[in-house]
Amino acid sequence: MQSPELDVKARRGILNAQHFHQLQQIVGPSYVFTDEESFQKYGRDETEHLFFYPEVVVKPRTAKEISAILKLCHEDFIPVTPRGAGTGLSGGALPHIGGVLLSMERFNSILSIDERNGQVTTEPGVITEVLQLAVKERGLFYPPDPSSRGSCFIGGNIAENSGGPKAVKYGVVRDYVLNLELVLPTGEIIWTGSNVLKNSTGYNLTQLLVGSEGTLGIVTKIVLKLIPHPSHDLLMLVPFASLEKAGEAVSAIFRAGFTPSGLELLEIDALTIVSSFVDSIAVPVTPGTEAHLIIEVDGNHPESLMAEMEAIAELLTRYDCGEVYFADDAQQKAELWKLRRRVAEAVKIAGYTIEEDTVVPRAELPALIRGVKALGQQFNFTAVCYGHAGDGNLHIRIRQEGTYNSQDDPQMQAALRALFELVYKLGGTISGEHGIGLVQKGFMDIVFNETQFKLMRGIKKLFDPHNILNAGKIFDI
Ligand code: LAC
Ligand code: ZN
Repeated sequence: MQSPELDVKARRGILNAQHFHQLQQIVGPSYVFTDEESFQKYGRDETEHLFFYPEVVVKPRTAKEISAILKLCHEDFIPVTPRGAGTGLSGGALPHIGGVLLSMERFNSILSIDERNGQVTTEPGVITEVLQLAVKERGLFYPPDPSSRGSCFIGGNIAENSGGPKAVKYGVVRDYVLNLELVLPTGEIIWTGSNVLKNSTGYNLTQLLVGSEGTLGIVTKIVLKLIPHPSHDLLMLVPFASLEKAGEAVSAIFRAGFTPSGLELLEIDALTIVSSFVDSIAVPVTPGTEAHLIIEVDGNHPESLMAEMEAIAELLTRYDCGEVYFADDAQQKAELWKLRRRVAEAVKIAGYTIEEDTVVPRAELPALIRGVKALGQQFNFTAVCYGHAGDGNLHIRIRQEGTYNSQDDPQMQAALRALFELVYKLGGTISGEHGIGLVQKGFMDIVFNETQFKLMRGIKKLFDPHNILNAGKIFDI
């Protein structure tokens, strides 16, 4: 029997014929896959251009089946990589050491919507937007909506503690998770908490699980808090001659007492690339524009929302903004949000394959933007910035001729290290909403010291003594 300390990289190849047979017995032969097409699909996500072969793809349907799979894998030190919809940007779902790729796609039911208490209980393989629309029909709101909401799974959002454009007013996934049914790597099935809005009962296992990137257990049921859906929203697009000025305007909006329900930044290249990608002429680009802010306010009183928008527009004239474009109707709003949501996909296809998910205190945005441009010159890359400026969460997409992956590229690693050191110096950290996974793991030493790592490793070992579940993600044991 292998030792638990066995180098995780050496675990590829442990699976034998007997294991395959047992997996088939647990989930049924038609849910165990070893064909090349499945391997191609489940060996990649949206992270850079990375691909790793799984050794088997397994699609369970119940917590009991997952429990049996994990017991088997725990016993024999077989790596297990959980996977939602594969829209992740940090490599969390990549089977980089082989083993079992555990797809959660069959956990696709919304189990109950409790209107009396404003809660929903769902399985993790439900598409986030499907869940949002289902609760909206009852007048309820589940705000966290990553750009990939039309294809990502709610379970993946919990694994990564996703954010999205609404986080600036409504908070992130973490703020809505009340309780989780969890299968531990050793096979036990537990609930992490209670379906209540306040809870001071012991350690908060629920919140420990949120954002743990599939390293501590497999979530099989989720209880989320819901809030009343606001009846109105207004949206405007504001051009700026200077990217830095747009960054300065962001913190000024909050200092003046406004809390928009969306405050997004788009550098001009992001907008031109995505406009041509979706073949849209919705946004006329004035020459000399370096960036736009997309600003949304929401609530139940249209007149006060209009007054708020006008006051924000007035404030922005102090930051050299150009002519403000108001999205008049639902169609124009949808068009503008579509452009924003598809940036990541569009710029990746345009060659900006490397993405960082930096976050700084929001008033430091201009300093971060300046720093990114300077590093681009120093390390010879082009960068396009966009993202959730209201949260200080800047997505930085990097393009360098001939470099498609940051992994195993010493020059790019040096550039990213300099970027994250700058972020840390500005009081920020290396991921705001995409997680650490595989690709940011090498930079964790910038933000955590040995004492902090020791605590995190201790937690991992307690949950997963044989280090089978998403081993080698976030940090090494
Ligand atoms: C976005 C994703 C990439 O904000 O987080 O578009
Ligand atoms: Zn984002």
